[in-house]
Amino acid sequence: LHVAVLMGGWSAEREVSLMSGKDIADALEKNGHKVTRIDMDRNVAMVLDGVKPDVVFNALHGCPGEDGTVQGTLDLMQIPYTHSGLVTSVIAIDKELTKQQLVPAGIRMPEGKMVKSADIFEADPLPRPYVLKPVNEGSSVGVAIITDQGNYGSPIGRDVAGPWQEFDELLAEPFIKGRELTTAVVGGKALCVTELKPVQGFYDYDAKYTEGLTEHVCPAEIPADIEALCLDYALRAHQILGCKGTSRTDFRWDDELGPDGLFVLETNTQPGMTPLSLVPEQARQMGISYEELVELIVREAL
Ligand code: DAL
Ligand code: MG
Repeated sequence: LHVAVLMGGWSAEREVSLMSGKDIADALEKNGHKVTRIDMDRNVAMVLDGVKPDVVFNALHGCPGEDGTVQGTLDLMQIPYTHSGLVTSVIAIDKELTKQQLVPAGIRMPEGKMVKSADIFEADPLPRPYVLKPVNEGSSVGVAIITDQGNYGSPIGRDVAGPWQEFDELLAEPFIKGRELTTAVVGGKALCVTELKPVQGFYDYDAKYTEGLTEHVCPAEIPADIEALCLDYALRAHQILGCKGTSRTDFRWDDELGPDGLFVLETNTQPGMTPLSLVPEQARQMGISYEELVELIVREAL
């Protein structure tokens, strides 16, 4: 096959996407495909019109790329592509729209509220501790946890000051104490559960992409009922949202509350494929090599 790997772009996760894209393209070449690597810019339609690939491997993260814009362009051009389609992408990139789909199906998610970032300097939108996050970013870009001791981020101005200030509107959610878990879906099956244990602070951008800053426990050392619930939530979220190829659902688990303490934070439709990323790690745990994983995702697109 001739596969065009779309990567980079201009989202806040550009660098992550370049890392994902490089490993994916290398693996596709190892698998014997002809690969064209494309750092996406606004001329992507023109570029693809010239390249004429059989299929696009979407290695983009964030907006644009994970939010339906690129998916819509590829639909219009009638080029098959990996991962989720237009409608799924539009919904899943938005953490509030995702809740509207998953919560009625009995999947527990924290009850948040949208707040204007200017108002946060006036008053806390929720009792502390709470989390502020942009509704449609990835890799913890712009995320802050506001505790009674203030913000993990920069302690300037009011004690909540931080990276979230770059966004006009934010999602505020109660902070769920306890543990950070995640489950990938590949080939229509939930793989396993990984626990992320950052050596300090929370699982933020640096902890996600710096070797040694987070311990990955895969499979997670958790009770069987919690593991089963993670697999069930991840697979049902994948199905309800209509995901394709692969997705990864992230959780917080308040272990003092047992199964009632398991909350889905979001489902990622373009999960990272970097050397420190979780989908490839879970696949490996289940006996699926990186090359096989990439091949499975491409085949599902055709
Ligand atoms: N947003 C990053 C790439 C992830 O979900 O893995
Ligand atoms: Mg995400």
